Amino acid sequence: MGISRHGPRRGPLRGRGRVRGPVSRRGVLAGAVGPMLAGPARAAQGPGLGGLAAARGIVFGTALTRGEAEASPALARIAGAEAALIVPGNEFKWPAHRPSAEGFDFRDADFMMRFAEEHRKPARGHALVWHGALPAWFEGAPRDAAGMRAMLERHIRTVAGRYAGRMQSWDVVNEPVEPWYRRADGLRETPFLAALGPGYIDLAFRLAHEADPAARLVLNEYGLEMANEDNAARRAAILALLRGMLARGVPVHALGIQGHLAAAARDFDAGVLRRFIREVAALGLEVLVTELDVTDRGLPPDIPARDAAVARMLRAFLDAALAEPSVRMVVVWGLTDRFTWMNDSRYARREDGLPVRGHLLDEALRPKPAWHAVADAFRAAPQR
Ligand code: G3I
Repeated sequence: MGISRHGPRRGPLRGRGRVRGPVSRRGVLAGAVGPMLAGPARAAQGPGLGGLAAARGIVFGTALTRGEAEASPALARIAGAEAALIVPGNEFKWPAHRPSAEGFDFRDADFMMRFAEEHRKPARGHALVWHGALPAWFEGAPRDAAGMRAMLERHIRTVAGRYAGRMQSWDVVNEPVEPWYRRADGLRETPFLAALGPGYIDLAFRLAHEADPAARLVLNEYGLEMANEDNAARRAAILALLRGMLARGVPVHALGIQGHLAAAARDFDAGVLRRFIREVAALGLEVLVTELDVTDRGLPPDIPARDAAVARMLRAFLDAALAEPSVRMVVVWGLTDRFTWMNDSRYARREDGLPVRGHLLDEALRPKPAWHAVADAFRAAPQR
């Protein structure tokens, strides 16, 4: 499960009555969501996921985009109420703020930083270097080592420098590993690797640290959690990469385990995930869950059964991850099925064309069993 971009190589709903009684500040906030949204109001009337996580010393965050916040003010209010940290979902990717090789356009990025700051939430930057989202002009950009180096220097200095002191952490390099390429080091062949060799990763981290010395610097990767050969190769490549970076004195502070899960997968093994997290922690690094969601691809259409399977997968994953004290942050890759990348992905979307139900709230922003599974996992987590 982990979803490979190279193809698939590889709780029950608790009846919760409407909470009545004195109207809390949070209740007022939630009430502002609107009369059709009794569900989210209900979910937000307790401590909310951010509060439940905080009680255990864990930060709960969500990705959110400007487009989503503007299309659904109700979602924006729920994100503001439930999450303790915001990750601008697309606004810090090159296509969003690099309209040209020369230019920068920070309007959407600034919008999301304002959103986080107005809600008094820290923000995470995602991502300074990612092969997966590059603007069209990048095709014509210099591919020699000097040109690529100059481009990375300019990009990271400008972007990380502009928000210095305001980002809790940065995904400095996103998804650098892909064993499918069969390189001995397990690295993914990207334009950055082609031009600069594996040293592009060290370079990016050093530049980010210079530009924003306060930010925690994260290496972010998917496909690290399952007990299968592909994920085992990814774990080995990530560990070797992190060890090498630390030996070279590169300022890397954390590993981000994205956590794009699949409810139909049968090869989740808590022991495998926990051992890996312990190996990373033994290097002196934090481990963050950075993009948690679950595709229900491969499951029959029945909605209660799908919702229960998604909730079970989330609970199993979180119980394992949160049993490790090095895991202090859990970020979901969006809160609601209304906006999800999974319906657009050939690896994550359902083959029967039904919308994926892989987030915590349904399309009408009502909490699903997945929401309760995450809440229960936070309640059950050992104290940090
Ligand atoms: O905003 C434009 C819109 O103007 C245009 O009409 C439309 C046409 O396709 O595209 C819109 O932009 C899309 C954007 O999402 C906002 O919806 C991009 O094409 C689309 O590529 C982009 O997809 C994002 C994807 O990363 C690529 O950047 C997804 O929202 C986002 O959820 C996904 O997130 C990634 C993480 O960054 C890294 N890990 C995997 C994760 C899931 O793929």
